[in-house]
Amino acid sequence: MMAFALWQGMLYAQIQEAGMGGLLHDLGKIRVPIDILKKREQLNDNDWALLRMHVAFTQQVLQTLPSAPSSQTMLRAMREHHERLDGSGYPDGLRGESIGQEGRMLAICDVFDAMTSERAYHNAVEPRKVLNVLMEACHQDNHLDRELVEKFVRCIGIYPTGTLVRLENGYLGVVLRNDPKDLLHPAIRIVKDGQGRKLSTPKRLDLCESSDMKGWRIVGSETPLRAELDPRHYLPGATHYFTT
Ligand SMILES: [Fe+2]
Repeated sequence: MMAFALWQGMLYAQIQEAGMGGLLHDLGKIRVPIDILKKREQLNDNDWALLRMHVAFTQQVLQTLPSAPSSQTMLRAMREHHERLDGSGYPDGLRGESIGQEGRMLAICDVFDAMTSERAYHNAVEPRKVLNVLMEACHQDNHLDRELVEKFVRCIGIYPTGTLVRLENGYLGVVLRNDPKDLLHPAIRIVKDGQGRKLSTPKRLDLCESSDMKGWRIVGSETPLRAELDPRHYLPGATHYFTT
């Protein structure tokens, strides 16, 4: 969400607020029974009703916090992250531009995050594939803001951060960051060698600096499931935001 806000040319304070909104928008899920959040079977009407309540719960929980974010723009975006342009979203069934820009941005980030994350009811999908799905979806239906989706795709890049990439020489790397001017050559952390052995000390490599070296070219991507590793372990600061 912060990267997207930065990409949109927002000001520093707005980028900070965007980050806060991205972190806290689903906070209300702590009041939704865990068996609904982790249910593998299809949700029934009651489950859906409770799940949808998480938007209102977020507002209630935020009110109990001593230092809750006070930005009205971001509080509104958090309330609007499940609204859809055609009015099919919730909680208010808002349409089109009556959903704020930040709410429309948060909706895109939320869908991207949900699809690229491991959940009880689905396996994580490669970030690159999710970008394709988002692009196709916004041409077929009127849920997400097409112009913003196109910007998001450009912002996230061809190999989004966290993508597992296979190199010509068989090595496997995790994308750490992208240079918007050279999306084909991200900075990666090498995690497996050409024989598929995990490196005891994963090494960082800027592919833009080794683009003329034979073998160090991205030839495809890999799923965490097939590679049998979690790319999030190799991202900077990963231990701060998840535990396994
Ligand atoms: Fe949500």
